[in-house]
Parts: sequence; structure tokens; C-alpha cells
Amino acid sequence: MKILTNFAVFEGGDGSGTTTQLELLKQRLTPEKGGPVFFPTCEPTGGPVGRLIRQALGKEVRLEQETIARLFAADRAEHLYAPGGIVERAERGELVISDRYVPSSLVYQGLACGGELPRILNEDFPAPELILFFDIEPETALERMKNRTKREIYEYLEFQIEVRRRYRDVLPAFGGGGSEVIVIDASPPPGRVAEEVWRTLSRMPILKA
Ligand code: TMP
Repeated sequence: MKILTNFAVFEGGDGSGTTTQLELLKQRLTPEKGGPVFFPTCEPTGGPVGRLIRQALGKEVRLEQETIARLFAADRAEHLYAPGGIVERAERGELVISDRYVPSSLVYQGLACGGELPRILNEDFPAPELILFFDIEPETALERMKNRTKREIYEYLEFQIEVRRRYRDVLPAFGGGGSEVIVIDASPPPGRVAEEVWRTLSRMPILKA
């Protein structure tokens, strides 16, 4: 596994708070406070492939699960390798943190269409230096999302219970491959989780320099 230095990812089931935590981190890593240039990003991306994925997740477009797996991999390739993408930025010394990455495909598409296809589609992508897994009871996570008017295709309890299990199967391979994998208890209020996130990220050499 090739490790991409200066690159970290947030992972977890739906409603685990990864997006909120990235927002909170933006307030901490501002240019005025010094430190490295910070590039917060997410998958699916806002690019053309990512927008199509969002339509499929929102049930506006009907696509086969295998097609969705391929789209996630295509979106990721753009995210990594297009000009101004993850690889270029991390290599020039920016801190890149993505809300979801390869582990999401191995978990969600692994459940939706079997492990083999997502494994093959994602095997050549670099692994992050650090993975933060936001762990929470699926019941609590979905309760947090109950005010959202629209449900996406994977946002139901039975699937989310499997998602949590599968993360526990999938993440150790990243640990074995050289990424650092840290489990964050995502059930406390966001401010407290943010402190834990900051403590963990502070161990990255780029934030110590
Ligand atoms: P988000 O709104 O939590 O960012 O979620 C996007 C949804 O897409 C979420 O249900 C997880 C799912 N997803 C996959 O199924 N495979 C992937 O590779 C990625 C990045 C996200």
C-alpha cells in the first residue's frame, strides 16, 4: 500500500458527524492561525461524477449498485489526480483531509455489491497517512438525522448496522498497510468530539512542524 503523507480521512456510518467535524476543523485551521495550508474536501465530490452519484444516492437517477461502485472510483480518481487534486496538494505540503475515501467504498459498496468489485476498483489508490473512524451506535446516528426531509439509499437502520460491522473488518488492513487508524467515540456532543479529533490530528508530523 502506498501511503500519501499529509493526507487524512474521516470515516464512519451515516450520521456519525464526519461532515460536522470537518466544518469545526476549518475554524481551527485558518490561515491567520499559521500552520500548513488546509484543504478540506469530501467524497462524493462536487465534480461531474460526484454530482451524478449524489443524484443516484438521492434516488433521482436509478443506477445499478455495480455502476455506483464504478462511479465512486471514477470520482476518486479525479479527486486524487486532477490538477489541484489531493495528490498534488499533499505532495506540495498542504494538509488534506477528506470526508470519506476508499474505506467508504470497501464498506458500502462491499455490502451493496460484494467485496470483489470495490476491492479491484480501489486497489491502486494511495492510502491515507491517518484514518479517523467515527464510531457511534447506528440507532443514535439515525436519530440525529431524523429531521432531514430526504433519505438517501443507504440511510436505513439495517444497512447502517452492517456498515458499522464492516468498518471493523475493513479498517485493520489499512492499519497493516501503514496507515494509522484511530477510533473516535462519536457519541458525545460535537464540541467534545472536536477536541478528541484535534488531539489525534496534532500527532501528524505536518501539524508538529
Ligand atoms: P455523506 O453525505 O455522509 O457524505 O454521504 C455520502 C453517502 O455516500 C454515504 O451514505 C456513504 C456513501 N458512500 C459510498 O457508498 N461509497 C463511497 O465510496 C463514498 C465516498 C460514499
